[in-house]
Amino acid sequence: MDHARDASGVESAAKGAIDVDLVRAGTPGCAHRLHLNNAGAALLSQPTLDAMTGQLRLEAQLGGYEAEAAARGKIEDTYAALAELVGGRAEQIALFDNSTHAWNAACYSIPLRPGDRIITGNDEYGSSVLAYLQIARRTGAELVVIPNDATGQIDLDALRAEIDERTRIIGLTWVPTASGLVNPAAEVGAIARAADALYLLDATQVVGQFPIDVATIGCDLLNGTGRKFLRGPRGTGFLWVGDRALARLDPFVVEIRSATWDGARGFTFAPGARRFESWENSYVNIVGLGSAVRQALDLGLAAIGERSGRLGALLREQLDQVPGITTHDLGKRRCAIVTAAVDGHSPAEVAGRLAGDGINVSTTVAEHTPFDSEDRGVHPLVRLSPHYYNTEAEIDRTVAALAAIAAS
Ligand SMILES: Cc1ncc(COP(=O)(O)O)c(C=O)c1O
Repeated sequence: MDHARDASGVESAAKGAIDVDLVRAGTPGCAHRLHLNNAGAALLSQPTLDAMTGQLRLEAQLGGYEAEAAARGKIEDTYAALAELVGGRAEQIALFDNSTHAWNAACYSIPLRPGDRIITGNDEYGSSVLAYLQIARRTGAELVVIPNDATGQIDLDALRAEIDERTRIIGLTWVPTASGLVNPAAEVGAIARAADALYLLDATQVVGQFPIDVATIGCDLLNGTGRKFLRGPRGTGFLWVGDRALARLDPFVVEIRSATWDGARGFTFAPGARRFESWENSYVNIVGLGSAVRQALDLGLAAIGERSGRLGALLREQLDQVPGITTHDLGKRRCAIVTAAVDGHSPAEVAGRLAGDGINVSTTVAEHTPFDSEDRGVHPLVRLSPHYYNTEAEIDRTVAALAAIAAS
């Protein structure tokens, strides 16, 4: 364990700024690719890879259930680490196989009646928009979309003006999938508190990118994914459920993990957030997720946020100097996601040519942020998302590669 922690660069980094050489040495993918797709899925560290392969080996050697029992301490630590990551308690965490299912467990469990209002923002994730439309159709609730202000973040005055006694949910995406915007999550939290509405915050692109404190934000529910900036395995996600939400939500499904048969024709929900979980899980993934979260906590989210945000800003500033390239990130505050268009070249072509140079980026998809697509009409774009383990030299190399494409 100590050796593995050395290999990740965590111990030295915990003492101060991140030791980039050390974290890169503990990230096998850094030797093969220039990875700027951390908003898609970040590179696993060697300690996380070791934790997962160790658990898989244990399943093969002992049997799946027996390996789960042997890893009970590590599994419980995944809950504890996620709680620490968001500033909550372990019993307020539920584990899922992705962030969408975590968000669904929250949103579909909020009791709604005809005429109730669901208020949301302009940069919501495509799956959430579809879910809101279905929930509104099923329950007779009204969906209200708040526009962005002149800076490109959610318009707080417009939000205040739409709130009334019928408002049950305010749902906001903190950092959208298709731009570098950081929405003012805490300001929205203050508005939600004053209105006594539940506040569901989608932090999928935030977890592992910069610090989170649910008490400061004032949210009731927060969902995140493992594979993006947290550097966990694919197929992991979680929901944090605050006490107010736990008291108000009616879990939309029930099964043998989330509740127990009470011996008569009734059942009792599991205590805490685990009432939203399913019985079967990948414990290989859960152990891997715990390892990734511990690594982020040991490095320090403030240090991670400072470095990833700085690399994002550097990339954006340099791209803005290149003739034929336009960046499209809005908002007062921006993060490590950078979106850009290259004149005369489709985003798919640009991403393909960069991949040929060993540079991983992705492209935005209009349907993944439907309201933003209606509003701005700029998608698809090239999406570049550095993380703390990227280097300034990699940013320079990427800008040069993009400049060559723009000039071609
Ligand atoms: C803002 C946002 N919300 C939700 C999701 C869905 O996350 P998952 O794919 O883990 O379900 C994504 C995925 O890109 C996202 O960017």
